[in-house]
Amino acid sequence: MVSGTQAKSDAKTALHVGGANVLNFYTANIGGGLLGWATFPWSYSGAPTMDGVACLYSSLPGGAAAPFNEGHTGTHEVGHWLGLYHTFQGGCATTNDYVSDTPAERSPAYGCPRGRNSCSGIAFPGKDSVNNFMNYADDYCMSQFTAGQASRMDSMATLYRGL
Ligand code: ARG
Ligand code: ZN
Ligand code: CA
Repeated sequence: MVSGTQAKSDAKTALHVGGANVLNFYTANIGGGLLGWATFPWSYSGAPTMDGVACLYSSLPGGAAAPFNEGHTGTHEVGHWLGLYHTFQGGCATTNDYVSDTPAERSPAYGCPRGRNSCSGIAFPGKDSVNNFMNYADDYCMSQFTAGQASRMDSMATLYRGL
């Protein structure tokens, strides 16, 4: 299931089950230094059998991919599957990730740089969402989706996944 390979699309074609409302969750040795990948809900109709989420097998809780082995690659990828972008999407633009209660963020947060404020200034109130599941911090640092993200996931699930 290496990203971009024929083997990956063959595997998905063979294994995919259900409709837009069913989460196909794969664990694999996905290669390329990646922890996971996901398809967005609005891509379902164009490629139904490609829909789903894959996580590096060793990112599951207790796996060998420390500091990414508490399962939050799964949490993050399912966030994408329900229509969320990264908190640093769009950088220091006010639209940013299309969620109003996540502050704009210039670039991914790695490790756990609590208190970071990468888009400072009057137009960008609020510290970066370092502990958000849709950032790139270490798993131990990840602890929340915001209410705005929950509401976006609800709308996307209704709009594209019949949930
Ligand atoms: N880089 C991957 C993505 O953008 C997953 C990042 C997961 N991060 C983590 N701390 N588990 O989909
Ligand atoms: Zn991501
Ligand atoms: Ca935002």
